[in-house]
Amino acid sequence: MVDIHCHILPGLDDGAQDMSESIKMAHIAKEDGIQAIIATPHIFRGTYNYDDLSIIEQKSIELAAVLDRYRIDIRLFTGAEVHLSHNLIDEIRRHREHLTLANSSYMFVEFPSDHVFQGVKHLIFDLMSEGITPVIAHPERNTVFIHHPELLFELVTMGALAQANAGSFTGLYGSESEAAVLSFLELNLIHFIATDGHNTRSMSPRLSEACRKAADLVGEEQATALVSDNPRHIIENRDFFPAHEPINPASHEKKLKIKLPRLFRRK
Ligand SMILES: [Fe+2]
Repeated sequence: MVDIHCHILPGLDDGAQDMSESIKMAHIAKEDGIQAIIATPHIFRGTYNYDDLSIIEQKSIELAAVLDRYRIDIRLFTGAEVHLSHNLIDEIRRHREHLTLANSSYMFVEFPSDHVFQGVKHLIFDLMSEGITPVIAHPERNTVFIHHPELLFELVTMGALAQANAGSFTGLYGSESEAAVLSFLELNLIHFIATDGHNTRSMSPRLSEACRKAADLVGEEQATALVSDNPRHIIENRDFFPAHEPINPASHEKKLKIKLPRLFRRK
């Protein structure tokens, strides 16, 4: 499996606090069957604004050397969880190699948990015009996408991709996010499952349990693609054409096996 979203680099953000925690996280990931990790520290999110973005690469080289010493066989790539900012396109033109995932044409975009700003469709369009395929980080944790899945459908239809957190499948973020991730998956609005690992405790880097839960809903083959085949397109920088067309929630809501959280809430 390939984990495309993990805060494993030591001392950069609210993820691993030091090298010892990074090593323990890598060990957990390896035990779970993860063979490659893209290290994705928060970028442009208030306190996580680095003067020199090459620090991501430096920390990754340090960690890779230590993993080698400890014989923890995990391939490490660099990336970022890019919080939306007003001058994002300028930042991409200046720092593209630091912001994209594994130096590919894919880039994470992170929305605030309770907000999706008005111009989001323009931004997605602008990103794609720059040759970037935006990957929306954990939409099932955003209250706007939870209650307006049509917006996620529209963005995916435009060409954006979406990554769900493993913890959402196991109830880590509450019942709304759990129902949302399952209904989004049923609507073919999720293309990757990643750990969003931050530590060795509740937010540890594990994928296998989430993959099993996804398989219960969409079958083994599709679930495996979410943690293995699809993420490999990113680390190999290959074009990715989703195998399943996105389904419009507005027309399909009543047929869903898993209720959308907005219906769930009206009960
Ligand atoms: Fe994250």
